[in-house]
Amino acid sequence: MELKWKLMNREEVSQVRGVVLQKSTCEYWNKIWDFQAKPDDVLISSYPKAGTTWLQEIVDMIQNDGDIEKTRRAPTDIRMPFLERINPPYVGLDKANEMPSPRVLKTHLPVQLLPPSFWKENCKVSIIYVARNIKDNIVSFFHFQRMNKGLPDPGSWEEYFETFLEGKGLWGSWYDHVKGWWEAKDIYPILYLFYEDIKKHPRREIEKVMEFLGKNLDEKVLDKIVYYTSFNVMKNNPMSNYTLSSLMNQSVSPFMRKGVIGDWKNYFTVAQNERCNEDYREKMDDTTLSFSMEY
Ligand code: A3P
Repeated sequence: MELKWKLMNREEVSQVRGVVLQKSTCEYWNKIWDFQAKPDDVLISSYPKAGTTWLQEIVDMIQNDGDIEKTRRAPTDIRMPFLERINPPYVGLDKANEMPSPRVLKTHLPVQLLPPSFWKENCKVSIIYVARNIKDNIVSFFHFQRMNKGLPDPGSWEEYFETFLEGKGLWGSWYDHVKGWWEAKDIYPILYLFYEDIKKHPRREIEKVMEFLGKNLDEKVLDKIVYYTSFNVMKNNPMSNYTLSSLMNQSVSPFMRKGVIGDWKNYFTVAQNERCNEDYREKMDDTTLSFSMEY
């Protein structure tokens, strides 16, 4: 398959079972596949740019009973290792293996590529998945690839848009990802959340996470978590805004970019909107999962 993205001296891409991933991830694939999950792990899973960091902060605050001294102990990617991340300065797997339990881990892998130890019968990993509407997801990912030196250059917006819809983007097709994890939740205990719900009803959604993790925090702690995980607070927190990451050039586009629903309206042409609606109708025809296309 021809990979359309220009690589511009940045990291190259390759594939595992038809899914485009960073080349370093593919080279390390056997080790990733053999990763040993532990029963008390919490795994946060998502298609990139769906609100992963937000959910990581929510989970870490819940696990630490709302203690911000503890959640500010280190940057997000050190507190909660990214499984398939191999670029310097650290290898996600090594970081995860060194960590004491209970661990909170992050992945963007599509469900079929999740290391099998996560599904083992005696392995009761708590998995939380977050999905975001396709239009905002495309826009957010486009800006992220512009600023992240560890990813290929996205090219023009028009090129990026087409590559994304064709499922040739990094971490594979958005459709396969959100549908695959949606189906998995009928078999395994997975809490499936939506970015738009967390944005509109943060307290309610944070309570869902709390219950799923078996925590019972009082109202005051809950208020604190809602506040400290809000966009502006996280944007100004160096431990959650990735300003300490040398991979990201935040003068091109900040990691905590806008944090809103509906930014796609500033980027999609009328023709792109129609094309996306049509593509969505066709590819989501075989699932009970649905997103509003009008956000
Ligand atoms: P935008 O680029 O649309 O602003 P991920 O963590 O999966 O990489 O997702 C990043 C996206 O989530 C970015 O979207 C970022 O701004 C948004 N985000 C992060 N924290 C958020 C928060 N507390 N509230 C709302 N959006 C948040």
